[in-house]
This record gives sequence, C-alpha cells and structure tokens, in this order.
Amino acid sequence: MQKIVVANWKMNPLSVAGAEELFNLIENRIGNLKNTEVVICPPFVYLPAFQGRDSIIKLGAQNCFWEEKGAYTGEISARMIEDMNCRYVILGHSERQKYLGETDEMINRKIKTVLKTNLSPILLIGETRRNSLNSKKEIEVQLESTLMGIEEEHIRELNIVYEPLWAISSQQATIATVEDVIRAKSIIKEALKKLKGEIAKQIRILYGGSVDSENILDFVEKAGMKGVIVGRASLDPEEFVKIVKLLDDVKV
Ligand code: PGA
Repeated sequence: MQKIVVANWKMNPLSVAGAEELFNLIENRIGNLKNTEVVICPPFVYLPAFQGRDSIIKLGAQNCFWEEKGAYTGEISARMIEDMNCRYVILGHSERQKYLGETDEMINRKIKTVLKTNLSPILLIGETRRNSLNSKKEIEVQLESTLMGIEEEHIRELNIVYEPLWAISSQQATIATVEDVIRAKSIIKEALKKLKGEIAKQIRILYGGSVDSENILDFVEKAGMKGVIVGRASLDPEEFVKIVKLLDDVKV
C-alpha cells in the first residue's frame, strides 16, 4: 500500500499568485519519491491554476456537495472537482462541522456521491475530547454513520484519517502521543472490520493534527499509520517537503 501525505491548505493563501508560488516551491524541492503520494488540497478557486500541470503532486479538494448538479447556490459538485483534474476530496473536516453544522448524515451522502466519480474520499474522524470515556464510542458512531450503505466494491478507495479535534492546530493544540494514535488505530480497525468485514483491511488509515517534521515519525514509523494530513505545516514549503521526505523514507 502506498503511503500518502495530504496538504490541507484550508483558507490559505490569499491570492492565486501566492498559491502558485507555494505550489512551485514545494514541487521544485520534492524530487523523486520511492513510495509516497503527495496531494495538495488548495481552496477551490485555485484549482484551475494547477489543473493542467503534469506534476508529481496530485490535486485534491477540501469539500464537495452531495448532489451532482442543480439549484444549490454556492456549492461545488464532485463532478466539477473531477473535471479540475483532482484525484481526492477531503470530507468531514471538523472545522466544517464546527462552523457550518455539517453532520454525519451529510458526510455519508457526500461520500456516496464522490464514489460515483473517480475521486477518492479522505474521510476525517476523531473524538472531541482527550481521554474521555466516550471517545471509543464517538469514533465507532462516526464510522458507522458516515460509512452506512457504502458498497464493498468501494471500500478500498477510502482513506480514513484519525484527526482528534483536540490536536488540530490552535494556540492550545496538544500533540497526540504514539500511544494515543496506536489506541485510536486499533479502535478504527476493529470498528471497520465489524462494519465491513475483512475487506476493510484495504482502507488506508492516516493521522492528522499538528503534524510537523519533528513528530511525523511518531505517527508513521512508531504508530504505523500509512500517511498524514498536514494543515499549518503545509504552508511552509521547506517544512512540508521535509515531512514528505521523512515519510517517504519510512518502511510501513
Ligand atoms: P493542522 O491541521 O496540521 O494545522 O493541525 C490539520 C487539519 O486540520 O487537517
């Protein structure tokens, strides 16, 4: 299974020129990779700037709508994203739940729509509070409701990111430990097996939440995740490329 690093630029940078500069700086430094996919997810409006490139970097979007087309003002469909040459789409980010009220049911509908295209979903799940007695249940419920009705033939296209809400970049972000991530990974694997059977082993499981070049090996080499999603550190080209190279050198 190939490893993957996903750059989630969120609502940055502020101009297309800035986005092109950042992309170019990353692309020029990356060089050849052994067994790692690199995906950049810029804001929608910058996708046309990268759509025609023949690059080692793949494109992704940060969200999409659950209907294919029609009267949904302000929304972007999976087919439109596919047409922008994207390969991936991030779904279920906690910031969308927090600021826009996105629910597990909406995420489930989005995943189903995405799976009708050639895009692969990158689904984020994670508990709200650290060490809460409820965290196992929270993860299980999220997986059950977001993956409800997903057919066996699509299971291997899924990427699931364990991104605990308490570890996402903020002034108070706490870094997840190797033990936190190993524990969550086994909860996720067990829940997936219960929901989807043996085929669930083919799902790529990643980590997200304040990843940088100092801690990436904890999540990938020590906790055995197949890759990472990177927010804040992906806006610093030198740091991001360092993360990519460290990940590429790990044997998992
Ligand atoms: P962070 O963001 O790396 O800044 O914590 C990750 C994410 O929210 O996807």
